Amino acid sequence: MIQVFRPSMGQEEIDAVAEVIRSGWIGLGPKTAQFETEFAQYVGADHAVGVNSCTAALDLAIKLLGVNHGHEVIVPTMTFVSTAHVVAYNLATPVFADVDPRTLAIDLDDVRRKITARTRAIIPVHYSGRPVDLDALKEVAGGIPIIEDCAHATGARYRGRHVGSIGDIGCFSFHAVKNLAMGDGGALCVNNAQWAQRAKRLRWLGIDKGTWDRTSADKAYWWQ
Ligand SMILES: Cc1ncc(COP(=O)(O)O)c(C=O)c1O
Repeated sequence: MIQVFRPSMGQEEIDAVAEVIRSGWIGLGPKTAQFETEFAQYVGADHAVGVNSCTAALDLAIKLLGVNHGHEVIVPTMTFVSTAHVVAYNLATPVFADVDPRTLAIDLDDVRRKITARTRAIIPVHYSGRPVDLDALKEVAGGIPIIEDCAHATGARYRGRHVGSIGDIGCFSFHAVKNLAMGDGGALCVNNAQWAQRAKRLRWLGIDKGTWDRTSADKAYWWQ
């Protein structure tokens, strides 16, 4: 067996988790907000919204674009199932475009063939951290929104820019087997403040003020 990688968890991570547990703030709170700020800076996006998985981020991305019944979204044939599932969750049709057998990136000629009047988004996957040629894809897309599936690609750069900041929306996974690993986790990156706000509302059942903001001035968890 060849072990590709294993998560690197040292004393720093153990201390950080212990600090959170001691604080009593184990839900959506200040650490999530800090992570969102720092991750957005790292990726070079204006906003990052933390969620529990890349699947949730992709689902929110589809919702932000208003994709629904009667619409089509182009996804690659080689990916994890959730790239296509999120399209179906939202009653739209996933349309599969082939991948380049050498790079596993979505095949731009096939994308061109699959675009119809109903196409509302394209989801390229940066497979195994290898960036798709986003400039060329944008040209083929001709203004159709691009949702970057960066589940494998935290840390990957395309022409000097971090992936996830180049298309319209970037979706990341921090699942245990990903290159930035936690138990489960994900983030959505956007440069659009309204989308970021809407994603924050949608991640929590439409509530527009987080528990941290709603809690008493001394910011102790309001257990009462
Ligand atoms: C390409 C791709 N997209 C999306 C996902 C979903 O990520 P998550 O497990 O965080 O929902 C995965 C997970 O393996 C993936 O490989």
